[in-house]
Amino acid sequence: MIHVNDAHVLRSIDYEAYADKVKAINQGIENRTLLGNDYLGWAKYPETYDKEEFVRIKKAGQYIRENFDILVVCGIGGSYLGARAAIDGIQGLYRDDKLQIIYMGQTFAASYVHQVLSYLKGKKFAINVISKSGTTTETAIGFRLLRDLLKEQIGEENLSKAIFATTDKEKGALLDLCKKYGYERFVLPSDVGGRYSVFTAVGLLPMAAAGIDIDAFMDGAKNAMNAYSSDEINPCYQYGILRHELYKAGYPVEMFVTYEPRFVQLGEWWKQLFGESEGKDRTGLLPDSATFSTDLHSLGQFIQEGSPVLFETVLDVEKPAVDVIIPHDEDNLDGLNYLEGKGLDYVCKQAHDGTLEAHEETGKVPNILLTIDEMDAFHMGELMYFFCRACALSCYLNEINPFNQPGVEVYKKNMFRLLGKPGYTK
Ligand code: PA5
Repeated sequence: MIHVNDAHVLRSIDYEAYADKVKAINQGIENRTLLGNDYLGWAKYPETYDKEEFVRIKKAGQYIRENFDILVVCGIGGSYLGARAAIDGIQGLYRDDKLQIIYMGQTFAASYVHQVLSYLKGKKFAINVISKSGTTTETAIGFRLLRDLLKEQIGEENLSKAIFATTDKEKGALLDLCKKYGYERFVLPSDVGGRYSVFTAVGLLPMAAAGIDIDAFMDGAKNAMNAYSSDEINPCYQYGILRHELYKAGYPVEMFVTYEPRFVQLGEWWKQLFGESEGKDRTGLLPDSATFSTDLHSLGQFIQEGSPVLFETVLDVEKPAVDVIIPHDEDNLDGLNYLEGKGLDYVCKQAHDGTLEAHEETGKVPNILLTIDEMDAFHMGELMYFFCRACALSCYLNEINPFNQPGVEVYKKNMFRLLGKPGYTK
């Protein structure tokens, strides 16, 4: 389970004051009676998910592994960040695997798209296009370009063997396209929004193709669902209360910190989850992220001595899978022999404790410490569910609908008008 340590938040928290609110919110999530209740499907999804589709996801994942060298995951925001965070977090940044996973559909940058298309030329690749609406421009353009390249390479008649689509069950342009061309379809349920969709085919198909044990991932999510859907102030709600209290105490920024480079994308997913859910009505914490000790050599200065706007939420891993021992060196010109025989994990822990002391005691920066046991599929499922549920609680404490994103539409409308999309005028 996720362990929450509040000993470093520089104040005592009156959890009891939240007891009634937490109970009401928990029941509202369970019974789907709160703001945005049409999108609360994720809360029970680790139990209610479509078991037949799950088997199909595993089969498709295996098929992709056996028949292709690359899977291109084509999606943006909630339609790709969860899969990417889970794959990196579970398998690390240099996966030694036959199937490479790359990402497209998340940018308009021609330099990126051109590079991906050039890289794919002549290679055996499959596409998993993911879009609930089917009209997201970055993804739609990316998919059109990928499909054209694939058509050139394998012929129109073979496209349906290499294209897998994840989209809304009942509506959307991508669904129409799949029906017309017979692409295999997976469902993003209507009552689950993009940033809460990692437990659906959106996250599961890329994970299965990457060779991740998605049964374990869902078991972890279910474990978290059972543990964190109580009326009491469980660790998940405790985290939600802590961040709410720190926000009220005058810290508008929450910095998500890990000591694991493989969690950089988890930070990206976390930022989207909290930022897009909570940042409304001119309220909400600004989510930021950093990876230590790398960023101690950049942002560390600001955290220690800059404007006192932030608190840190540090994610630690109890049992790292491996360690690397520092060797002896005869000359010792680098002066490191005092560490010979010690593991990097030990060094990292001292950096962690030294940093905590510096930020908390000298910098007066509150720290929430979260600990997971391991970086495997089970614990990743558990952690991602923990964050989804804590995020919902946080939004409801601010009386915010966690599941819409009205602000995102503003840039889209302006962009469509500037692009001359039919129907968009000033
Ligand atoms: O969380 C969200 O709802 C968004 O980030 C969406 O996932 C993102 O905008 C992509 O939308 P779609 O899946 O419709 O292409």
